[in-house]
Amino acid sequence: MQDISLHLLDIIENSVRAQAKCVKVRVLQNVVKNRLRIIVEDDGTGMDSHTLQKAQDPFYTSKEERVKKVGLGIPLFKQNAEQVGGAFRMASEPGFGTVLTVDFPLDHIDRMPLGNLKDTLLNSIIGHPDLDFFIHLLYRDKVMELCFHFDTKAIREELGDIPLTYPDVIEYIDQSLYEGIQKTNMEDV
Ligand SMILES: Nc1ncnc2c1ncn2[C@@H]1O[C@H](COP(=O)(O)OP(=O)(O)O)[C@@H](O)[C@H]1O
Ligand SMILES: [Mg+2]
Repeated sequence: MQDISLHLLDIIENSVRAQAKCVKVRVLQNVVKNRLRIIVEDDGTGMDSHTLQKAQDPFYTSKEERVKKVGLGIPLFKQNAEQVGGAFRMASEPGFGTVLTVDFPLDHIDRMPLGNLKDTLLNSIIGHPDLDFFIHLLYRDKVMELCFHFDTKAIREELGDIPLTYPDVIEYIDQSLYEGIQKTNMEDV
């Protein structure tokens, strides 16, 4: 995978597969701390400590139909963060959910780019219109803090019977995410 957004898409799909009802995605760009932090939190099935450990091992997957492969999903994301001096943490509680926190040093020359965050978020939202997505983007430097919040639950309540996948609604979500990404300086990170 060549950028963080594609990893994020994979992580969100893991949450969906774990029967999450709500997925919270945070992208925090902290120039003062030289840190790009991604947090994905779900309320899915969670993992016991054995599975949690195994999930970070490149030879493991619980998809039984699949031949075990190296370098999928989680292990690759972890490796991509750690090899530039970043950090990868995954915490989970069976029956409650999972939280994944990945840090990248913002200015590292070999850090993978954030990539197309808008498409990742938009595709996740409209691909799973019955889930609640809570998006929080935050930019911070010495002089300012810029933030953007997006919550599909609030939109769905507003829309009533109109589905999130209705073309005008997709257009609205697309535009909102675009503006949020611009506002928080997440373009070209
Ligand atoms: N959010 C999550 N909740 C519960 N289990 C998870 C979650 N994320 C990952 N897992 C477990 O870790 C395994 C490995 O995930 P991953 O590395 O993305 O590979 P894959 O998705 O191809 O199985 C999954 O098959 C699943 O068992
Ligand atoms: Mg996966």
